[in-house]
Amino acid sequence: MLKEVTQSTYFDYYRENLFYIEAVIEKLLERIAEIDARREARGERTLCDSVQYRIKSPDSMMAKLKKRGFETHCNSAMENVYDAAGIRIICPYIDDVYLMAQKLAACSDIEVVEIKDYIKNPKENGYRSYHMILKTPVLWQGETKHVTSEVQIRTMVMNSWACCEHQLKYKKDVSNEESVALLKRCADEMLKIDYSMLRIRGMMEESCKREEFIV
Ligand code: GTP
Ligand code: MG
Repeated sequence: MLKEVTQSTYFDYYRENLFYIEAVIEKLLERIAEIDARREARGERTLCDSVQYRIKSPDSMMAKLKKRGFETHCNSAMENVYDAAGIRIICPYIDDVYLMAQKLAACSDIEVVEIKDYIKNPKENGYRSYHMILKTPVLWQGETKHVTSEVQIRTMVMNSWACCEHQLKYKKDVSNEESVALLKRCADEMLKIDYSMLRIRGMMEESCKREEFIV
């Protein structure tokens, strides 16, 4: 059971929807694990370095609903906000991000509702990540509901930038032009690192193939 499900504040707000939210997270974690398990069985590299998940806190959900002009009760949340269930997949390499997205979209019980590719189209501040809104059928006590979730897929490098940026934003609501520009420059430099790592991997794979050929 997810830690949020055992907290009464979550149940007080989400009521029985909480079990569907938990079920959708568990189902997606299962699919993600299966994708890597199949690769491992074929002797291929795994795509995930780590996977994180969370259920959006009632306070944060109500604030989001209010900001968007919706009623703040849980049925309104389930209808109008797609990220009550959130999963973040951290991948070693940039091509893993797209491969993982493709594999998830190909699962028969996953419907892709929306994609925001902040890698191809980064946010103005430099934020990069691949976001998917997914819809998944989940069964609880004999009733099936189609539950949405937000899945963010990004590289370890993109994740380290996003975590620092989030902390900076969270701690202070002040920023000056110079720090904003510097943060954006860091994000762009980090993208170059992602591509360099991909090149290095390609070179290593090539030399492995050559050695296998010689032996
Ligand atoms: P939200 O109200 O933020 O959920 O907006 P949205 O529904 O339009 O979603 P979007 O796909 O733009 O981003 C949602 C989530 O992505 C956020 O809750 C963060 O986890 C992450 N995110 C988006 N922009 C940024 C950013 O500039 N910095 C960091 N660190 N994270 C971001
Ligand atoms: Mg969102």
